Amino acid sequence: MNYFITGGAGFIGANFVKYILRTHPDARVTVVDALTYAGNIDNLAEEIRDGRIRFIHASINDAEAMARAFEETEPDFVVNFAAETHVDRSITGPRVFADTNILGTMTLLEAARRAWRRPDGSWQSGKRFLHISTDEVYGSLPKEYGEPKPIAIPDDIRALVARRRDVPAAFGSGFFTEKTPLAPRSPYSAAKASADMMVMAWHHTYGLPVNITRCSNNYGPMQFPEKLIPLLINNIQQGRELPVYGKGLNVRDWLYVDDHCSAIDAVLLHGRPNEVYNIGGFNEKTNIDIVRQVVDLVAEFTGTAPRHDLITYVTDRPGHDMRYAIDPLKTAAELGWVPLTTFEQGIRRTVRWYLDNPEWVRKIVSGEYMDYYKKQYNR
Ligand code: NAD
Ligand code: TYD
Repeated sequence: MNYFITGGAGFIGANFVKYILRTHPDARVTVVDALTYAGNIDNLAEEIRDGRIRFIHASINDAEAMARAFEETEPDFVVNFAAETHVDRSITGPRVFADTNILGTMTLLEAARRAWRRPDGSWQSGKRFLHISTDEVYGSLPKEYGEPKPIAIPDDIRALVARRRDVPAAFGSGFFTEKTPLAPRSPYSAAKASADMMVMAWHHTYGLPVNITRCSNNYGPMQFPEKLIPLLINNIQQGRELPVYGKGLNVRDWLYVDDHCSAIDAVLLHGRPNEVYNIGGFNEKTNIDIVRQVVDLVAEFTGTAPRHDLITYVTDRPGHDMRYAIDPLKTAAELGWVPLTTFEQGIRRTVRWYLDNPEWVRKIVSGEYMDYYKKQYNR
């Protein structure tokens, strides 16, 4: 198998590269990344040094570079992680979100179409363009669950899910399914939703074999510390305030990054072509619960007093989506996938990783990121 992974120097991309090398030792892996502020080549230093991956420093917006990369590497699977990803940045500077997330995806779709279509109009077999989308394209859910009536989990899926003891007994209409209409509300999610439509257009119009995955909030090692969980860990260590937007009651469905990686690979290997698959953690939490838990864990691991005093309620994010919650039963039923990491396990592993890798954090926190931080939080 020959993987072409864009955005592979970022958080989920780098975890996915490592996951693939671990689970398919014979796979060929090419990483394409523009190394924006969020891309960190250190995430892949070992793999590049060992020659286990080929790294191409290029933007998915660069049509010539993409055409060349396809020609040189002849990939079977394109996995498109490359994107601008931070909602707060999309509010203050939306244009790059349209450039990368929409036009970049279109450029990549074109490169795949030209590379995979034979002169007689037929398609090379075994090819798949997997676009990594997000649950944020569905918009915002109310906090009320399951109206009008919860749908019980079917028995065969229940057996799968039983591997996780903390899974809720039912899903209802208060969850995002693959059929939920797209209703993005931030510049980030609007750009991601536009990209999803481009992907489906390339399937319907040209016949490109595609999939789209829509996943909930990820957490784990190597996440850029502008995102909630690594930002908290870093600020606690620096004795800096922990900024909680609004009342801290917004809900996200958190998934450990390795479970996202296993779902993506399951879609590539077993997903029906041209289908959308939702991926979620069975794990809804309010932001303030996350903040408190991270404060307690840092205290436990460092043997210091928990710094709940650092929690600071700040002005809410404009248009802040109230709740995201994924119904992942289609993915569970069709692909036999369920997330195996409980939040308890995942968050302990994550906090441990950041505490054990201060050099990784220090390198990132210097430079451009600190200018952004001052502007965003006025502190
Ligand atoms: P990230 O910001 O950590 O990484 C993005 C990567 O893309 C970086 O390495 C960056 O250098 C690269 N990149 C940006 N513009 C590029 C361009 N023009 N050409 C090539 N590379 C470029 O993001 P992440 O959190 O790892 O998210 C990866 C993907 O998963 C995104 O598409 C995102 O929308 C999606 N997603 C993320 C989450 C989450 O919780 N983090 C949840 C669901 C979906
Ligand atoms: P984030 O990690 O930015 O992901 P997303 O907005 O894509 O879900 O934020 C997760 C939640 O945490 C979101 O509801 C916003 C909130 N949040 C804060 O309360 N304070 C912060 O400093 C950040 C970055 C996020």
